Amino acid sequence: MSMDAGTMTMLEGLDALRAEIEASLREAPDLRALDEARVALLGRKGRVTDLAKGLGRLSPEDRPAAGQAINRLKAEAEALLQARRDHLAAAEMDARLQAERVDVTLPARRRSAGAIHPVSQVMDEIVAIFAEMGFAVAEGPDVEDDFHNFTALNIPPEHPSRQMMDTFYLEPEEGTVPFVLRTHTSPVQVRTMRTGKPPFRVIAPGRTYRSDSDATHTPMFHQCEGLLIDRRTHMGHLKGCLIEFVRAFFERDDITTRFRPSYFPFTEPSAEMDVGCRRTKDELVVGEGSDWLEVLGCGMVHPKVLKAVGLDPAQWQGFAFGMGIDRMAMLKYGIPDLRTFFEGDAGWLRHYGFSPLDLPTLFAGLSR
Ligand code: PHE
Repeated sequence: MSMDAGTMTMLEGLDALRAEIEASLREAPDLRALDEARVALLGRKGRVTDLAKGLGRLSPEDRPAAGQAINRLKAEAEALLQARRDHLAAAEMDARLQAERVDVTLPARRRSAGAIHPVSQVMDEIVAIFAEMGFAVAEGPDVEDDFHNFTALNIPPEHPSRQMMDTFYLEPEEGTVPFVLRTHTSPVQVRTMRTGKPPFRVIAPGRTYRSDSDATHTPMFHQCEGLLIDRRTHMGHLKGCLIEFVRAFFERDDITTRFRPSYFPFTEPSAEMDVGCRRTKDELVVGEGSDWLEVLGCGMVHPKVLKAVGLDPAQWQGFAFGMGIDRMAMLKYGIPDLRTFFEGDAGWLRHYGFSPLDLPTLFAGLSR
């Protein structure tokens, strides 16, 4: 079969164009350049289209073969285009992933803007220790009524300890007994026992108030109450529980302790717990030495308190304790002045505060 000259030129041009197409598609550096090349070659005014337009000038016998050759070229060009497009898209995605990478192994920023106050830290530590022993956290109101703060705790109206406590009274309404700012967290004992069913195992950290202000007293301070009520609870349980607590709290197993007889209207017998300490000129080391430091008050819940909340003392007994949280914080972290706790000084907090990212737990360490 012979071809005319026009057809020959066209097919030669086609070969040249194929080489050009291969080169320009293969070398397109990015998706944009690739698209420009596509328009220039395969677009409505592109080179391949131009070539197809020339078909009309060929002899009718040559037209089908030339047409097929152009269609093949088109298909080849489309395939090359698609391959290059996939390659460039993948490369672009790789580059983006690399650029926008987040290193999840980076440590958290060491210096956060805020810090946990030593009082909050110590509360969290106390809660962590007692939670491990099965105690739940209970709460009560700061504004308390006379019954919960005093009467139910075996402190009747004329009892001298009402004076001892330097109570803040709220303005009474005509003919009613005034509310008070709770002078201790012990009213939470009463609330717990009146509203729940025994056995009980709770601690109650919170704010307390007494009209007292000097180097070692602030009108608002913090206490943590503890209460355990069960069928056959005795003083040995109280001692074991509290010795275990101070060991965990001061983070030393060899801590020495002592229980001294004491008096509270709501416990019988009552005791105060001391931990051993050593005082040097400018240091106080807790846990060793021949001096003693009082850390908390405790005792077996008085039968009158049990009766006041509707429990039968022949069936249920238990122990209670109360400690000053601020004082525990001063002892553990060597903070010399109580009043600085409540001054809101940012520099002080930066120095004595704790990272919000280090939650105290018994297994990871209470204070690190
Ligand atoms: N409520 C007592 C106080 O404020 C502490 C205490 C609590 C003592 C429970 C014994 C039992 O000093």
